[in-house]
Amino acid sequence: MTHSPRKILHQQRMERMKEMARPSPSKKGNISVRVSNLYKAFGSNEVLKGINLEVEEGKTTVIIGASGSGKSVLAKHIIGLLKPDKGEIWVGDRDITKLKLSQLNEIRKSFGMCFQMAALFDSMTVMENVAFPLIEHTTMPKAEIRTKVIEVLHKVGLVNVEHLSPSELSGGMRKRVGLARAVILNPTIVIYDEPTTGLDPLLTEEIDNMILDAQKDFQVTSIVISHDIGSVFRIADRVAMLVDGVINFVGTPDELLQSPEPAVQKFITTFG
Ligand SMILES: Nc1ncnc2c1ncn2[C@@H]1O[C@H](COP(=O)(O)OP(=O)(O)O)[C@@H](O)[C@H]1O
Ligand SMILES: [Mg+2]
Repeated sequence: MTHSPRKILHQQRMERMKEMARPSPSKKGNISVRVSNLYKAFGSNEVLKGINLEVEEGKTTVIIGASGSGKSVLAKHIIGLLKPDKGEIWVGDRDITKLKLSQLNEIRKSFGMCFQMAALFDSMTVMENVAFPLIEHTTMPKAEIRTKVIEVLHKVGLVNVEHLSPSELSGGMRKRVGLARAVILNPTIVIYDEPTTGLDPLLTEEIDNMILDAQKDFQVTSIVISHDIGSVFRIADRVAMLVDGVINFVGTPDELLQSPEPAVQKFITTFG
């Protein structure tokens, strides 16, 4: 049997990805977020059409899917920024779709958010940026805030940058500052929405490592939205794929490669 060079190349690439894959979790742990039968339309645009997803505590779940498939809309539901038309979102033992705003704000503190564009305030120093959630949500004294910020910056690999403006930092450093700000309130869940989109391969790998380190250092549950197949293999314990408004695949990165689902195969060949 002969294979085309393209097919052989593809297979070699898949083999490399498999080697990079992390060992799959041996047994199922506690569920940190459970999305159940979630529907959301904007006018006639039906974006989420019955999403079911379980996010395991302490693990990294990567949500993949084509651009415009509704990944960010799903993330915004999980942190309670959007209300679904139908369905439930359980965070721990509470369905957040049923909560009042004040209760929701309380729950939101358990989430750290890292958006694509680190979204730092350039008019503020790194210290002020990272301290922001502490000033907003706590009554912690100033001196303690300073100590805490320096400690968290240190944990994400940044030393002596407190006095700088974000504009004086490299792209990778800015992402780290964004992460420091996202974890400063000790969240139990961190959501990253396309943290590596638009970055070169080296920086992508650096950010992936940062996500893995954050997982270890802060013992969080990570939900990462991505369309980078390389990142999936570096960081994911589990992968969920969003297609046509539903999750059509959930499994380990290895299982993703083996999946016969045409949409999964298309994704791998397009983005791999
Ligand atoms: N606030 C909104 N109002 C109306 N339509 C929206 C809103 N947010 C997202 N959409 C639409 O929902 C769909 C999914 O968007 P999004 O979740 O941003 O995609 P992805 O993150 O997968 O690229 C798109 O068609 C987008 O135009
Ligand atoms: Mg998006």
